[in-house]
Amino acid sequence: MGRRPGTTAGTFTCNTDGHVLGTDRLLLRTLRPDDLDEVIATVDRVVLRWQGFPSEPDALREFFRLKIDPGLQVHPKYNEHFLISERSSGKIMGLRSLYSNPRRNGTLATGSWLGEGWRGRGFGSEELRVIVAYAVEHQHATRMIAGTENTNERALRQYRSAGFRLASRTKEHALPDGRTVPAVWLARSFRRSRKAAICALGQPSLP
Ligand SMILES: CC(C)(COP(=O)(O)OP(=O)(O)OC[C@H]1O[C@@H](n2cnc3c(N)ncnc32)[C@H](O)[C@@H]1OP(=O)(O)O)[C@@H](O)C(=O)NCCC(=O)NCCS
Repeated sequence: MGRRPGTTAGTFTCNTDGHVLGTDRLLLRTLRPDDLDEVIATVDRVVLRWQGFPSEPDALREFFRLKIDPGLQVHPKYNEHFLISERSSGKIMGLRSLYSNPRRNGTLATGSWLGEGWRGRGFGSEELRVIVAYAVEHQHATRMIAGTENTNERALRQYRSAGFRLASRTKEHALPDGRTVPAVWLARSFRRSRKAAICALGQPSLP
């Protein structure tokens, strides 16, 4: 089944094995557990710096194994990761994640990164636009939130350009590597989509 969001953000397709989102230059598809090596290969020094992932290779692998294992989801309602690739070359660029918040109906938290060579070329803004369209049209999100360290200019501008606005500040946000950083949360609200979500994966719509 193919669906096109009512925006210029891109297209998305819903299949029994996952979703595929397309923009002019990018393809995003639902992550599978056997994608682990490709995901890890996109994590360079800059991604470690801003995401705060464990830097030691075995710890990093275990962190991702737990993160993407469907049987061990922290957010059981809805949790989807997308592998981001360049449409023309098929090269893997990074990862985008969406998480429902069991305490806040309709809210999806999101985060992403792009590996070395892909940053600062407008790809992040491009993939965020299609993810927002997908989250609203297909997952029926009524609010999206994203957190970032308050000095991460690229991430701040990426979200602001997509219509997210400052929602709150956290003085001490704990990262997976044990560091604590000052962070900001940006949010954008949406009207509930009138279009019915028919997901071939059998996922329930967000309440
Ligand atoms: C954050 C990230 C996903 C953004 O994607 P990107 O492709 O690099 O960003 P874009 O090229 O689309 O640019 C996004 C915005 O940042 C601006 N920007 C680009 N490079 C910049 C730089 N070096 N410094 C400041 N702003 C910059 C762009 O002009 C754009 O802003 P605008 O829409 O107001 O013009 C990417 O940089 C990344 O993976 N960074 C490392 C990991 C990370 O920080 N993840 C987020 C943690 S919360």
